Amino acid sequence: MAFTTLLALLLLTLGASASPAALDKRQTTSRYCSSTTSLCYLQITPRAASIPTFRIAVPDGASVPFDTVLEIIAPVAVNWAGFAWGGSMSLNPLTVAWPNGNKATVSSRWSTARTMPGTYSSATYKTLSTSRNATHWSVEVACTGCSKWSGGQLSTSSINTFAWALSRTAVQQPSSASSSFSIHNNVGMFSSELKDAKNPAAAFSSYIKTATG
Ligand code: HEM
Ligand SMILES: *[C@@H]1O[C@H](CO)[C@@H](O)[C@H](O)[C@H]1NC(C)=O
Repeated sequence: MAFTTLLALLLLTLGASASPAALDKRQTTSRYCSSTTSLCYLQITPRAASIPTFRIAVPDGASVPFDTVLEIIAPVAVNWAGFAWGGSMSLNPLTVAWPNGNKATVSSRWSTARTMPGTYSSATYKTLSTSRNATHWSVEVACTGCSKWSGGQLSTSSINTFAWALSRTAVQQPSSASSSFSIHNNVGMFSSELKDAKNPAAAFSSYIKTATG
C-alpha cells in the first residue's frame, strides 16, 4: 500500500515537471455574427483574458480546397499568435501573426518538428482588416491553402481539431513575414464541426474580394 502511494506520488511529480505549459483544452466555441463584416464565424473564446480570441469562417456547400477566413483578436501583451489548421504544431498549415505598428504581419508557416516553423508557400494570404488600440491588436485574413494540405484537410461534416499558440516575446523583425521568433508561452487545442463557421458562398467570396485590409 505504502509502495503504491509512493509510486503514485513519483508519477505525479514526474508528470507535472514534464509539462511546464500544459496543452490548454478549456476554450469554448460558439457562432458569432459580425455586423461589420456581415460574416458569421466559429468563435473560440478563451478561458482567460490574456489569450486571444480566434474566429474562423468558411463557405457553405463548398468542398475542399476552399478559402478560409481567420480573425485573431489578441491582447497587446501577445507578441505573436499562431493558428494550426490541423490541430498540431507539425505537418499542417500554421497562420502566424504579430503586430507591426498599427498594422499586422501575417506569416505562412509549416513545421516538420517542434522547432521554429519555416515559411510555407502553399498557403497564401490576403489581409482583410487590421486594428490596434490601447488593449488589443487584431487581424483578419483570407487564406488560400489552409483547408487542404499534404496529409490532411478540413472536414465540412464532422469534427475538426484546431490548435493555437501565443508568445509574449517580440519577434525579431516585425515588418518581415519571414522573421524568426521565440517559442510560445501558451498552447491550446479545441475540436469542433465547421457548422458555426459556415456562410453563404457568394457572400463569403464577395467579402474577401472587396475587403481592403
Ligand atoms: C520558435 C518557434 C517554436 C518552437 C521552438 C516550438 C516548440 C514547441 C515544442 C518544444 C513543443 C512541445 C512542448 C510544449 O508543448 O511546449 C511545442 C508544442 C506545440 N506548438 Fe510549438 N513551437 C514553436 C512555434 C509554434 C507555432 C508558430 C505554432 C502555431 C500554432 C505552434 C504550435 C504548437 C502547438 C499547438 C503545440 C502543442 C501540440 C503539439 O505538440 O503539436 N508552435 N512547440
Ligand atoms: C480595442 O480593440 C478590441 C479588439 O478589436 C475591441 O474589442 C475593444 O472594444 C477595443 N477597445 C476600445 C476601447 O475601443
